[in-house]
This record gives sequence, C-alpha cells and structure tokens, in this order.
Amino acid sequence: MPQARRLFPDFSGVLTTTVRDVLDRDPSTRRRLLRDTGKALTHLTHALGEAAMNRFLQVKEILDGAVGGPTAPVGAFHGAFWRELTRDEFMTFELLGSPIVTVGDGDGSTIIKALRGQAPFGTDLGTPEATMPRMPAGGLDPVPDEQISVIAAWIDDSCPAEDEQPLRRTAPLDE
Ligand code: HEM
Repeated sequence: MPQARRLFPDFSGVLTTTVRDVLDRDPSTRRRLLRDTGKALTHLTHALGEAAMNRFLQVKEILDGAVGGPTAPVGAFHGAFWRELTRDEFMTFELLGSPIVTVGDGDGSTIIKALRGQAPFGTDLGTPEATMPRMPAGGLDPVPDEQISVIAAWIDDSCPAEDEQPLRRTAPLDE
C-alpha cells in the first residue's frame, strides 16, 4: 500500500481536478452530467423502494401460488382475502376473530400456523387440539417450508413496507 500511495499520490484528487477543469470549460456538459446524475439517482431510489415493496408482493405471490395462481378462486368463507389487501390492512386483518399476523413474531402468527398445520390448524395431520385443516385446505398441496419461512421472516421484521436501511445522505455536489 505505501508503494501504491507513492506511485499514485492522490489519484482521486487528480481525477476530481481533471473532471472539474473539463466541466468548468464546458457548462453544457456540466449541466447534462448533473441532469443525468439526478435522473440516475431517481431511478435508483425508485428501484430500492420497489425492492422493499416487493417483499409484501412476494408474500401475496406465495399465497396466490398456494391456491393455483393470482386469479384462482378460493371457495372458503374467507376467499383469497390477501389479494385485495394493502400491506397496512394485511397487518391488522382478522379471520374468525383473530388477527392473522402478530407483528414481529412470524412463528406465533396465525397465518404461519395455518400454513404449517399447527394448532388450531391441522385436523388433517392429526395435530392435537386442531379444529381446522392445514391451509390451503380443500385438497391443495401444502406450501413449501422455505416459502412459509419467507412470510415468517417478513413478519419477524415487522412487515416492512420500506427499506429498513434508508439511503444515507451524501455530501452535496458543489455546483
Ligand atoms: C390465517 C388464517 C386462516 C383461517 C382462520 C382459515 C380458515 C379456514 C377454514 C375454517 C376453512 C374451511 C375448512 C374446511 O372446509 O374444513 C378454510 C378453507 C380454505 N382455506 Fe383457509 N384459513 C386461513 C388462511 C388461509 C390461507 C393463508 C390460505 C391460502 C394459502 C387459505 C386457503 C384456504 C382454502 C383453499 C380453503 C378451501 C376452500 C374450499 O373449500 O374450496 N386459508 N380456511
């Protein structure tokens, strides 16, 4: 490292000075660069926001997949209840008088117990004290464990709607 430092004493400093020199001589390039950087940052922010939102969409996709797709009808009294719910509504939604989610506790949440066939679910599996079958009922395949874990982890993380680690502010570009 010391050798590298001797060879390239201040590479970023040299680069910054060169770019600044070019831009000072060429205001239109400077404006274009600023505009394009702004656009790129806007796209990046949207992409990060979507990635965060996608965690809830992923939950919906798993539930839809469990019943045969996003338009498959669900005959139960509850229908495909997740389809029309916003993330906020999903967090407080109740079925048979109990919230389906216990925020921060995936394993303890009713929806996870329903998918795992844990009491009060699992009459079809012989689960003690079960009063209902594992979900999805009606002869559908169980949801794979790793998909159930995705939903449980999202609930453990308090069902984030936004990126938990917002972009840190960087020093403003000096115009
Ligand atoms: C979270 C709490 C839930 C409760 C309390 C609940 C309750 C029930 C009950 C009582 C039935 C009727 C069972 C029977 O016929 O013996 C049922 C059926 C059903 N549930 Fe759920 N359920 C829940 C979550 C889910 C979820 C997350 C899914 C989808 C992955 C799902 C999919 C189904 C399906 C497909 C049926 C059968 C529909 C039919 O009869 O054609 N349920 N549910």
